[in-house]
Amino acid sequence: MKLHEALRIDLTELNEQLIAIAASDPDAKGHSWIGESVARLVEAGGKRLRPMMVLVGARFGLESDPTHVGKAALILEYLHMASLIHDDIIDSSDLRRGEPTLHKAVGIPEAAHIANYMMARAVEWAMEGEIDPAEDDRREQRSDKPRLADVASLLMQLCMGEYQQLGNRFNFDLTLPDYLEKSRNKTAVLMANCFRIGAELNQANKAVCKRLYAFGEALGMAFQIKDDVLDYSETSEQIGKPAGSDLRGGNVTLPVLYALEDKDSELAREIRSLGADSPDEAFARVTRQVAASGAIERSLELSRAYAKKAARIIEKLRPHPATEDLDIFLRYFTE
Ligand code: IPE
Ligand code: IPE
Ligand code: MG
Ligand code: MG
Repeated sequence: MKLHEALRIDLTELNEQLIAIAASDPDAKGHSWIGESVARLVEAGGKRLRPMMVLVGARFGLESDPTHVGKAALILEYLHMASLIHDDIIDSSDLRRGEPTLHKAVGIPEAAHIANYMMARAVEWAMEGEIDPAEDDRREQRSDKPRLADVASLLMQLCMGEYQQLGNRFNFDLTLPDYLEKSRNKTAVLMANCFRIGAELNQANKAVCKRLYAFGEALGMAFQIKDDVLDYSETSEQIGKPAGSDLRGGNVTLPVLYALEDKDSELAREIRSLGADSPDEAFARVTRQVAASGAIERSLELSRAYAKKAARIIEKLRPHPATEDLDIFLRYFTE
């Protein structure tokens, strides 16, 4: 069974709404290419993990506010999609979700505009209705403003994660704490916020919101480590994006850090000799050696340790019935 089916979430409707945000924007009316690019991105696929996290987080609430919850789910996916457009431009990556990346299809300036538009639209849309006085009174009492401060800070952390990555290209002295902090910023913080924002909008109690944040963070760390492993262990066809591209782009991820541990090894020496101008064969050779070095297994072990942390948090949230949905998420992330 697919994840969204197991979680009882209608992805078709969600995808239609993602397209409609741009299509119905009066400011984008004269620029049909904006709506078309967003539709193209949505139709290319994507797992929609983040909106599903918002919707599941919301199931822990004491009240039900489907309007704000649904909106938050869409906004957070918009931010994620925009960050991937930027990420692919920065990484000169030409494949995503098995399709040409947006900048490959429409050009770098146009793709950069679309990503900026999606971020701006998400923030603007989050504000819509905020100045309705009747709504305001209600929200003042419930203190559930669509968490614009949260959106702003997680966007900042996402950017910091990308900067940390960019600033450390081919830095083979990167430490494990540096790597973990970068991964937290660029991936785990967004997932953590998705669960928490969903729960907060439905007035879940504070301790539950905090635990859901920690659950999303642990899941996000497990997820990013696994993504970094897949770059070494799978083919481009399997992952729908260019395999081996992390090393080629100088992105020092966990498998490389482990492979570098034995400082005097031939492999460590070869890794350290790599630079932006190294030939493709050198990257391919080192990638194969890293994959065969045991670094993959060790990386997966750390990913599993984060998953175990997530599992412990679920236990603290039981016997709430929605914990079963967290079990489903965890199974999906660890299979
Ligand atoms: C990709 O995220 C970026 C990472 C955090 C590794 P996803 O794997 O969730 O991307 P899509 O949205 O499903 O394509
Ligand atoms: C996630 O990291 C990117 C963002 C969170 C923006 P990656 O760079 O590993 O993502 P992929 O592998 O390109 O999907
Ligand atoms: Mg990338
Ligand atoms: Mg990756």
